[in-house]
Amino acid sequence: MISLKDKVILITGGARRLGRAISLGLPSKKFILHYNQSKRSAVALQKEIQRNGGCAEIFQADFKDLSSIKSLFDFTKKKFGRLDVLINSACIFENQPFESITDFESTLRVNLLAPLMCAHQALKLMSNGSTIINLCDISAIHPFRNYPLHSISKAALLHSTQVLALELAPKIRVNSLLLGMILPSEGFPKKEFDEICNKRILLKRAGKPEEVTHALSFLIENEYMNASVLTLDGGRV
Ligand SMILES: NC(=O)c1ccc[n+]([C@@H]2O[C@H](COP(=O)([O-])OP(=O)(O)OC[C@H]3O[C@@H](n4cnc5c(N)ncnc54)[C@H](OP(=O)(O)O)[C@@H]3O)[C@@H](O)[C@H]2O)c1
Repeated sequence: MISLKDKVILITGGARRLGRAISLGLPSKKFILHYNQSKRSAVALQKEIQRNGGCAEIFQADFKDLSSIKSLFDFTKKKFGRLDVLINSACIFENQPFESITDFESTLRVNLLAPLMCAHQALKLMSNGSTIINLCDISAIHPFRNYPLHSISKAALLHSTQVLALELAPKIRVNSLLLGMILPSEGFPKKEFDEICNKRILLKRAGKPEEVTHALSFLIENEYMNASVLTLDGGRV
């Protein structure tokens, strides 16, 4: 088992929602938190981590412009000199019925190419025993109607986990955490979300952010977890 305490952890899309819960829940003290539009949330989270005795550096990048990714890792190198854990969490989750898609690229850039390029950049900062985790979605296996690009991007991200594990072994472990329903997307009616949970999830509830953090800790700490998909969905039917 490795200890998370001294690990340098980079979370993409880390300022809000699950990213925020993960950075507050993991016992590490050193974070790079990437954000895109949520500067205020990123600054507030940075202060909260500092109040808890940790250190968080924040960095803005819009992954629709993939060249921004190199700057994120140059920043990480400058601040910490190394990286132990990369958590690819940034994501576009947009209702886009297939016939109405006008932009085929953005979702694929942010949800698929950016995690791949983050992994590529991370190599320069990682040493033996470092680890990469891709946050995937159940839509990778059971596509969501009206979310074709999201579903396709997450399916490809899931596969890229195995591909990268093969490429990077034995130095770096690569795993996926495949999540079911945890937080409703913004604007999604809570009543409808609860109804879906009740109907589609054997445990009849959404997962909790702290359960996501617990699963992530396991993937990071257990040194024999590699090329794996850990599903956390309460049992989906
Ligand atoms: N929430 C769930 O129930 C659930 C279920 C299944 C899987 N997951 C997966 O878990 C991860 C985190 O979930 P979440 O609900 O916290 O995600 P989210 O709120 O949908 O997105 C996370 C962050 O992605 C960033 N992002 C969006 N567009 C970007 C862009 N163009 N460039 C860079 N960053 C961009 C945003 O940062 P800013 O706010 O700074 O703009 C956002 O806060 C995602 O990968 C998701 O697929 C979540």
